[in-house]
Amino acid sequence: MQLTGSLLTWVALVGPCFAKIYEDVSDLPGLEYDFVIVGGGTSGNVVANRLTENPNFSVLVLEAGVSNEGVIDSIVPFLVEGLLSGPNIYEWNYTTTPQIGLNNRTIPYPRAHILGGCSAHNGMVYTRGSADDFNRYAALTGDPGWSWDRIFPYFLKTEKWTPPADHHDTDGEFDPTVHSTDGINSVSLNGYPWPIFDHHVIQTTRELPEEFPFNLDFNSGQMLGVGWLQSSIGGGKRSTSATSYLAPKFIQRENLHVLLHAQVSKLVDPNKTNEDLTFGGVEFLQGESLFTAKATKEIILSAGSVGTPNILMHSGIGDSKALTALGIPSVLDLPSVGQNATDQPIVSAGWSVNSTQTVDSITQNMTRYDEAFAEWNRSHTGPFVEVGATHIAWVRLAADSPIFENSTDPAAGPDSPHIEISMGTGGAPNPAGHAMAMGIVVLNPTSRGSVTLQSNNPFDPPLIDPGLLKTDIDIYTAREGIKRAYRFVQAPVWQDYIIAPINALLNLSTEALDEFIRNTATPGSHLLGTAAMTAMNASWGVVDPDLLVKHTSGIRIIDLSIIPLMPSAHTQAAAYVVGERGADLVKARWE
Ligand SMILES: Cc1cc2nc3c(=O)[nH]c(=O)nc-3n(C[C@H](O)[C@H](O)[C@H](O)COP(=O)(O)OP(=O)(O)OC[C@H]3O[C@@H](n4cnc5c(N)ncnc54)[C@H](O)[C@@H]3O)c2cc1C
Ligand SMILES: *[C@@H]1O[C@H](CO)[C@@H](O)[C@H](O)[C@H]1NC(C)=O
Ligand SMILES: *[C@@H]1O[C@H](CO)[C@@H](O)[C@H](O)[C@H]1NC(C)=O
Ligand SMILES: *[C@@H]1O[C@H](CO)[C@@H](O)[C@H](O)[C@H]1NC(C)=O
Ligand SMILES: *[C@@H]1O[C@H](CO)[C@@H](O)[C@H](O)[C@H]1NC(C)=O
Ligand SMILES: *[C@@H]1O[C@H](CO)[C@@H](O)[C@H](O)[C@H]1NC(C)=O
Ligand SMILES: *[C@@H]1O[C@H](CO)[C@@H](O)[C@H](O)[C@H]1NC(C)=O
Ligand SMILES: *[C@@H]1O[C@H](CO)[C@@H](O)[C@H](O)[C@H]1NC(C)=O
Ligand SMILES: *[C@@H]1O[C@H](CO)[C@@H](O)[C@H](O)[C@H]1NC(C)=O
Ligand SMILES: *[C@@H]1O[C@H](CO)[C@@H](O)[C@H](O)[C@H]1NC(C)=O
Ligand SMILES: *[C@@H]1O[C@H](CO)[C@@H](O)[C@H](O)[C@H]1NC(C)=O
Ligand SMILES: *[C@@H]1O[C@H](CO)[C@@H](O)[C@H](O)[C@H]1NC(C)=O
Repeated sequence: MQLTGSLLTWVALVGPCFAKIYEDVSDLPGLEYDFVIVGGGTSGNVVANRLTENPNFSVLVLEAGVSNEGVIDSIVPFLVEGLLSGPNIYEWNYTTTPQIGLNNRTIPYPRAHILGGCSAHNGMVYTRGSADDFNRYAALTGDPGWSWDRIFPYFLKTEKWTPPADHHDTDGEFDPTVHSTDGINSVSLNGYPWPIFDHHVIQTTRELPEEFPFNLDFNSGQMLGVGWLQSSIGGGKRSTSATSYLAPKFIQRENLHVLLHAQVSKLVDPNKTNEDLTFGGVEFLQGESLFTAKATKEIILSAGSVGTPNILMHSGIGDSKALTALGIPSVLDLPSVGQNATDQPIVSAGWSVNSTQTVDSITQNMTRYDEAFAEWNRSHTGPFVEVGATHIAWVRLAADSPIFENSTDPAAGPDSPHIEISMGTGGAPNPAGHAMAMGIVVLNPTSRGSVTLQSNNPFDPPLIDPGLLKTDIDIYTAREGIKRAYRFVQAPVWQDYIIAPINALLNLSTEALDEFIRNTATPGSHLLGTAAMTAMNASWGVVDPDLLVKHTSGIRIIDLSIIPLMPSAHTQAAAYVVGERGADLVKARWE
């Protein structure tokens, strides 16, 4: 037994331990590279992959978190809750500041602390946003390179469209002309059927076609309507930037090194003698010791919407008054760093249903659960290949909504939705029986928050304020979203299926509905805008449209923090294309 045990350990350590992912800084060949990428997350690994296509470039990725190898809760889609239900070793374990819009609740704010970043623990929903969203970025930055037509090829470049795990006929469930089968990161339709629920959703698009039309593919740039869910899953397994962009054939490149357990504290050796500010390298902590990695060409910050502004501020880049007050010498006064933080609030509505084709039939029955897990282990099929969401409805507020008397329309254009209603047979808090649930999302919040510092210690967590539900139109949109969700299930097809709402929200007073929302809403964890990209000559913002930090040279930001306004979508697809275009901008400078 002892022998078997140690043999297994040996295989586990040696088997997947690809040569170029280092756990210990002393194993690195050196600490000077052309490019140092801070954060091996969703965008960072895209950049690492693309830059090392050129054998002349050497790249070091510094990732604070742990290895993703063999992390079963990350690999098996159905087990994602295990990563998100409290502090764990794959998490930064952040908590928000008291949220005024949520009756002063403080809530956990998940951020991944694992190679692959948030792509390794997120909900895997794959949504690109609307054409309007990207055209608005192009208009705001004055760079047509951010428009939908120019970004669309990058969506194809990242995407490896993959058959679903059950290999069902997907005709009529997506539009193949807007997808690519030869990109890197797997995307697929659901691989386990929920026949009754699936039927009822599609039937609703026939019974209520005005309000809920069918949309063959909401990732085409035209999002409105109801379509089949697409997820970053391939072959029944989660696809992350680590499993895809750092797959064995890439990580074996001689010029690509990744160091884990390396938490960057700040940029060091500022030099202001020329027009622009430069930094010589980055300081990082591993174990008890501080080290410095030097970048001869560029330092690329890909630490995400919390990590990136945190590192900038500890480096003296931010609001100079606020930094000086904390005893951090100001190097560059850039007051937008960490400001305009935006996230989407989510509220849930559930209904008990007269059906056993539900996720709770699996999670509340250990025999069934074990069978399903064993099936996944055997063949990567069965209910564990997904999370139990099936479709998304994207809807607009009515054009004559009274809220528009006093609030301007926050959507990017007339074809962009204000509200997302994602639906499935899982996710409802219903211990008593079987249930379906909807997640209602305010897609374009006008509320803003911030990421700021509580001290000058770079290893203290920053103060995270996603600023949820502070404006009239945000709470109005949440209320309207709940009403739309209830309208959806008023289609006749649901009559014999739905037994009762879990919380009767339909006839509540506005005040009571607001209380429900403020007491139950959670953050979408789609934070962005904390290192906003603006036009070259803008009076605010953190990076120029080429992603170089304003008034500096040799420091770029390539992650979701640069997106200035929320897309009408979940945000991982945006993080992937920011990585792709960002890498091309770097290559254009140095090749
Ligand atoms: C719980 C949750 C669920 C989500 N669900 C979905 C979903 O279903 N669909 C979707 O599209 N989007 C979803 N998102 C959002 C999406 O995953 C993120 O917007 C996106 O992955 C962000 O990518 P990024 O590269 O900007 O940052 P990240 O992927 O977070 O990468 C940042 C990396 O930098 C590392 N890092 C940070 N600071 C340091 C430092 N000082 N030194 C070294 N390394 C550092 C981090 O450990 C991390 O690996 C979800 C997010 C969360 C948190
Ligand atoms: C790498 O450098 C060599 C020598 O300078 C040059 O000939 C070659 O074109 C470069 N390769 C690429 C892909 O840039
Ligand atoms: C988060 O909490 C877990 C459990 O307490 C801990 O093991 C882990 O180290 C924490 N993460 C960080 C980044 O400190
Ligand atoms: C939330 O906190 C603020 C500031 O402390 C306070 O003014 C407000 O009354 C609080 N709101 C609730 C609902 O407790
Ligand atoms: C600062 O930059 C200037 C101009 O690029 C260079 O001459 C000088 O050596 C640098 N100083 C330091 C301390 O690196
Ligand atoms: C926040 O964004 C708005 C535009 O949406 C801009 O006018 C303002 O200057 C920004 N604030 C900061 C501190 O960057
Ligand atoms: C559930 O459906 C069955 C028929 O399919 C019916 O006999 C039963 O009364 C229904 N139960 C409820 C609670 O509606
Ligand atoms: C639990 O699951 C097993 C295996 O699928 C099934 O035989 C059994 O009927 C289920 N029990 C209940 C209470 O549904
Ligand atoms: C699945 O496989 C893993 C390891 O490969 C094992 O630890 C686990 O017990 C298996 N689970 C089931 C339900 O078969
Ligand atoms: C708009 O603002 C005006 C002035 O404050 C107010 O009288 C009116 O009720 C508001 N309209 C709506 C729909 O809230
Ligand atoms: C809500 O009110 C409508 C009419 O105002 C009524 O027909 C319906 O039964 C009520 N629904 C609930 C769940 O109370
Ligand atoms: C900034 O540049 C844009 C185009 O790049 C131009 O339209 C605008 O007028 C400029 N604004 C200022 C204040 O110079």
